[in-house]
Amino acid sequence: MLLPILHYPDKRLRIKAAPIAKVDDSIRSLVKDMFETMYEAPGIGLAATQVNCHIRLIVIDTSDDKSQPLCLINPHIIEKDGELEWSEGCLSVPNYYECVTRANHIKVKALDQHGKAFELEAQELLGVCIQHEIDHLDGILFVDHLSKLKQRRLLEKTRKAQQ
Ligand code: NI
Repeated sequence: MLLPILHYPDKRLRIKAAPIAKVDDSIRSLVKDMFETMYEAPGIGLAATQVNCHIRLIVIDTSDDKSQPLCLINPHIIEKDGELEWSEGCLSVPNYYECVTRANHIKVKALDQHGKAFELEAQELLGVCIQHEIDHLDGILFVDHLSKLKQRRLLEKTRKAQQ
């Protein structure tokens, strides 16, 4: 089932997501819908926050052919180092791309959709994507990392488009 995606500056994108206590069939059903919604958009990452579910769950696939679906539940970044600048976009901020500086290399710990713990090392596109999606769970958008001037311009542009 396709889920509606919240758009900036919707205040619900600012809600801090709660940890998932039990990975059950209702969670797996949401994971399935989130993958479907992300692929349809199309996008390479989607956080539950963006579909108005305020629990700590993200789905990612940075491949060109939908071959690397990755689901992270209760993700935690346990190591990060280096810096890199990457041009980012977001399904909640359509048609807007800006460079953001993030850690170049991260190690993340999470549960998969069967509730099994795993660790993953990531860099470049995948690393950036994981950091971007975990930000969503904390109510943070990539545009929050930009200058106040750029944020003001984006807000004006968005308000005009919504009138
Ligand atoms: Ni996003």
